[in-house]
Amino acid sequence: MAHTLPQPRTVRAAAALRGTIAVPGDKSISHRSLMLSALAVGESRVEGLLEGEDVLATAAAMRAMGADIVRQDDGVWVIHGVGVGGPLQPETALDMGNSGTSTRLLMGLVASHPITATFIGDASLSKRPMGRVIEPLSQMGAEFQDTPGGRLPLMVRGISPAVPIRYTLPVASAQVKSAILLAGLNTPGETTVIEPIATRDHSERMLAGFGAELTVTPSPEGKVITIRGQAELKPQNIVVPGDPSSAAFWLVAGSIVPGADVTITNVGMNPTRTGIIEALKMMGADITELDARTVGGEPVADLRVRHAPLSAIEVPPELTPSMIDEYPVLFVAAAFATGTTIARGAEELRVKESDRITAMADALGACGVRCEEFEDGMAVTGTGGEPIPGGATIATLLDHRIAMSMTIAALNARDPITLDDAAPVATSYPIFFDTLEKLGAMA
Ligand code: S3P
Repeated sequence: MAHTLPQPRTVRAAAALRGTIAVPGDKSISHRSLMLSALAVGESRVEGLLEGEDVLATAAAMRAMGADIVRQDDGVWVIHGVGVGGPLQPETALDMGNSGTSTRLLMGLVASHPITATFIGDASLSKRPMGRVIEPLSQMGAEFQDTPGGRLPLMVRGISPAVPIRYTLPVASAQVKSAILLAGLNTPGETTVIEPIATRDHSERMLAGFGAELTVTPSPEGKVITIRGQAELKPQNIVVPGDPSSAAFWLVAGSIVPGADVTITNVGMNPTRTGIIEALKMMGADITELDARTVGGEPVADLRVRHAPLSAIEVPPELTPSMIDEYPVLFVAAAFATGTTIARGAEELRVKESDRITAMADALGACGVRCEEFEDGMAVTGTGGEPIPGGATIATLLDHRIAMSMTIAALNARDPITLDDAAPVATSYPIFFDTLEKLGAMA
């Protein structure tokens, strides 16, 4: 899954961006739909699955553990699951590529089964911290042999029966929460995760949809999420909504390119994911929500965005978890606003596919934008809507969101911006550049 040759790409300013586009399926929901279908008994069908490299890594891993997963010619994925308790010993190491979500959630799944699995990944994933899942999963009885610093490659020796735990998340992370809930699926009794700061709730929604006994109760310490283990999951037909994190690139592009008018259809509007829309609206973005509806248990809408002058904001810290993946592109929006935008309380950005604070400060800085890095965020001073200077070559650092964010920045730059490697885009948004072309911008 590693990319052998870098794919440099130069992006020029766009004359105008106009049209109606759809974004690919939600990455978080796609991973979970494959994992839970693979743990159900019988045939599940998934429509709108994101066919990006990260999700394909999850599919390969679930196949390696015995699930039958087939993509039909009509694009529907059909999965015959092995049942909770049924995953088989994988014969070779599980290659997670660039995907932290695949790694952390599958570490949880393996932890409570009597199998041993080795996880490997690319250079970016191999730098990311896994201690945050090793800690609670060790309390449940799983054993780990990790690379120093709690990193990949690592081996998980699962245990059955595992020990149910009650665990308060020390870091706001849907991946850690989901790893524990997945481990809890094959653990006798009740496994509880307490979440002081709410994060994306796709695991809870989908586990309940598959028939798991799961309760979510508010409490003074936060959301108390309890799963009763060793239940049977019933197969489902799932329709995956469009990914709001992918839509975010077009929301910013539409806001910063003069004359832009873009409609994005079928965007997931789960409130644990829509922080970027709130932040952009606070900045003055012209975003309208059309035809709000529910698809497969998730709220969905079409979004229309038109060019508008943006003003700097202080990003409200309470929005952080619901826009954690959107900071790189928010920094791009800030580069075109009037005034200095300040984001704080986002230290998690340092342990994503790259250190996204330094990566974006360096990238925007090289393009002539004034940025000040903080340990937990950044200040970006905007041009007031004028083009940024541009003209730099950007290190994308195996990080899809750095590559896409800087592509958007290039759409209103005086001189073209070159990505040293555009290949990482394929992890979450393989048709990103096709869509850019469809909107009238030639990359
Ligand atoms: C994800 C959770 C987030 C997010 C990632 C996907 C998920 O990570 O950044 O892209 O699907 O659970 P953390 O849980 O580490 O914040």
